[in-house]
Parts: sequence; C-alpha cells; structure tokens
Amino acid sequence: MINVALPKGRLGEKVYRMFEEAGYECPSVLSGSRKLIFENTEKGVRYFWVKPSDVAIYVERGAADIGAAGKDIIEEYRPDIYELLDLRVGKCRMAVAAKKDFRDDHESTLRVATKFRRIALDYYASRSRDIDIIELNGSIELAPILGLSDVIVDIVETGNTLLENDLIPIETVFPISARLIANKSAFQFKSREIEGLKQALADVISRKE
Ligand code: PRP
Repeated sequence: MINVALPKGRLGEKVYRMFEEAGYECPSVLSGSRKLIFENTEKGVRYFWVKPSDVAIYVERGAADIGAAGKDIIEEYRPDIYELLDLRVGKCRMAVAAKKDFRDDHESTLRVATKFRRIALDYYASRSRDIDIIELNGSIELAPILGLSDVIVDIVETGNTLLENDLIPIETVFPISARLIANKSAFQFKSREIEGLKQALADVISRKE
C-alpha cells in the first residue's frame, strides 16, 4: 500500500485527478465528505487530505510515503525528503512586491513582511541586504499599505491581489509548482511501487504537454 498525502483544496483535487489518470483511482476521495482517509486496496493506494503546509511533515516523518507539496513549502521548511517530480500544476511564483512609489535607498534596513521567513532571509542574504523580518500569517499585502513594512515577500499567482491593493511585483524570487515528494526510507522499501507511480504520473504529464 502506498500512502499519499494530498494538499486539501483545489490544488489537491488537480493532483488527485493526475493520480486517477495514472491508474490510481479512488473515487470516494472527491466525495466531498468530511472524511480524511480513503483507500483503494485493489490499486494499493491510500490517500489522506492534509493542510497544504503540512504535507512535507507527513512525508518527512513517514506518516505518508509520498505527497504533493508546493516548492514554496519545500524551500521554506527544507524537509529531509526526496523531490521526485515536478507535477507542473499549482504554478505561481515567490515575489517581492511593494507600493508603486517604493524606491529602495539601500541604506536603511529594509522592512520585509512575509509568511516565508527563511526564504526572505536567504534571498536578501544572497544580496547582502540588511533586513528586518516582520512575520505575518496572512493578508500580507496590508503591511506596506499601512506602513508596517517596505516590501513583502509572498506568493503571486494571477497578480490580482497585488493589483487590487495598488502594489506591484518588483522581483521574482523563484518560480513555484507542486512537486511529488517521497519519504526517504519508504523510497527504499517501496521502491518498485513508488517508481511505478512516479513513471505513470510522468506519462500523464507528458501526455498533457
Ligand atoms: C495567496 C498569497 C496572495 C494571493 C496571491 O494568499 O499570499 O495573497 O494568494 O494570489 P493572486 O496573485 O492570484 O491574487 P492566500 O489566498 O493563500 O491567503 P493569505 O496568504 O492571505 O492567507
């Protein structure tokens, strides 16, 4: 049995559809019930719905053998896992954004609001820029508007949230998409099953492109 952690929500549904197309269907997964665990013993697969930011923890600790996690989560938490495949869904980017009139004077410490502390610290360290991190849990776009920060480091997908709040993206930190990740020891013990699933998913992706 392969245990799969799926990120709850729209991205997880897309990812499940890919598993289904790859031959690992379990229709009750999309039943909309409050149930969190679903299995298809015939196909040898068990799915769990978990909070997107928790997928990497389930996989790292072996509660799930594999899972789908955004590159943002992988970069922020650096879990000790294998990244097996770019699933090419959930595409967006990590970006720096600011008010339209923002000019970086490069002299004072830059105030950066974000949910992604490590990503922001690494990004500015690589540019030798002193920053003051303001960690928030959501609605990050408010910070520069209210003068709480100079810039934000956050996910941009359509760009609508920035646009509607009069902010503009000024730099891309890295592109994001969902990745298939595996627990390191499960990858040894269930190598045949996991490799088979990875190959079937890779075939689904190449048929789409
Ligand atoms: C994410 C991100 C941006 C928004 C970007 O927020 O933090 O606010 O989506 O998407 P867009 O470019 O398509 O507008 P999320 O919905 O996860 O909420 P939160 O960060 O405010 O909790």
